[in-house]
Amino acid sequence: MRRSTIIGTGFYVPPDVWTNDDMTKLMDTSDEWIQERTGIKQRHIAEDGIGCADLAKFAAEQAIADAGMTNQDIDMIIFATLNPDVFFPGSACILQSKMPFGTIPALDIRQQCTGFIYAVAIADRFIRTGWCDNILVIGAEVHSTGLDFTTRGRDVAVLFGDGAGALVLQANGADGGVLSSFLGADGSGGDLLCIPAGGSREPASHRTVAEGLHYLTMRGREVFRFAVRAMPSATRQVLEQAGLTTADLKLVIPHQANQRIIESSAKALGLPPETVFSNLEWYGNTSAASIPIALCEAVEQGRIQQDDLIVCVGFGAGLTWGATAIRWSVPLPAVMPSRWKKIWQKLRYRYAALRSLVLRFLRWLFALRIKE
Ligand code: ACO
Repeated sequence: MRRSTIIGTGFYVPPDVWTNDDMTKLMDTSDEWIQERTGIKQRHIAEDGIGCADLAKFAAEQAIADAGMTNQDIDMIIFATLNPDVFFPGSACILQSKMPFGTIPALDIRQQCTGFIYAVAIADRFIRTGWCDNILVIGAEVHSTGLDFTTRGRDVAVLFGDGAGALVLQANGADGGVLSSFLGADGSGGDLLCIPAGGSREPASHRTVAEGLHYLTMRGREVFRFAVRAMPSATRQVLEQAGLTTADLKLVIPHQANQRIIESSAKALGLPPETVFSNLEWYGNTSAASIPIALCEAVEQGRIQQDDLIVCVGFGAGLTWGATAIRWSVPLPAVMPSRWKKIWQKLRYRYAALRSLVLRFLRWLFALRIKE
């Protein structure tokens, strides 16, 4: 049976770290409040002018190198993000112009914090049906540019951070890999977590900006109640689909939103705390990037070994939720590209940047001709 296997992982967070004490300089909050309510100690914040595709590029390079591949082996890019580089074109296309991937399809997924779970489920379907052999799946966020870092926005701003995580999924005939996916959505809860203005219903205006309607707003307690139901339920359902139970689990990689949500979900599933991975204190909630970053760190820390059963589970705006059950099966040891491959890769990046520039210039020239 044709299945998809994770053969490469990579993540990147921007170097600038904002601790809870740094947040107290911007708004009326405290380290004690943030840690007690959320478990977060710090978050990474991108420099001005950096978009999520910039962070994604670093994560993607690592994942592709970890898979022992070059960009030319990738058949498709699926990119999950809540805060895309621009309204359109999609961040997957922007990433494609930053890295030399050729003209492979590039798809954006807008399921917020559940985006990565949706992206893996879609990639898995493309692979199972034989349409693609190798798919790059990315979750990347620059949240910080969409947050109100004043006391007005403190209930939301302290929660989030910037970062990116990436996987390479490959077609594989062996047992294991992605066993099952479970996805859910309930649009009736859309107003619990949203950016109220800036879209087609209420476009950006002086009023919407003055009222802060371009910032993420959230009814925290209701989202909390939804999350502690959705995560255990999605975990059980995805395991059931694979004919497994929580007793078979080695590790759960939950969306990193709040330590209390993670602990409560572990309790509801009857799992000891060490079976549920958490790195929330170092990164905050990086939305679509949180699960792939956590997965990469779990792999790096040796918390996942060959043949282990893991479940990645998330929830987010929409409302949406979902889970993926994976039997970790790396068919071949990852081979780092040789020195020459690296040089070749660098040259191709330069070529891609130049190609983008030339194409933009030609479009500009063409537009001038049309004006004449
Ligand atoms: N610092 C200090 N005080 C604060 C802060 C802050 N940063 N933020 C809020 N407060 C105050 C409030 O004003 C309130 O004061 P009051 O009692 O005088 O009115 C008090 O703290 C309690 O506020 P609550 O909102 O009731 O606090 P709660 O215990 O519910 O915790 C939190 C808030 C952390 C947001 C919690 O509800 C939560 O984690 N919810 C889930 C959020 C989540 O997971 N979001 C991610 C979704 S994923 C996605 O798709 C983006």
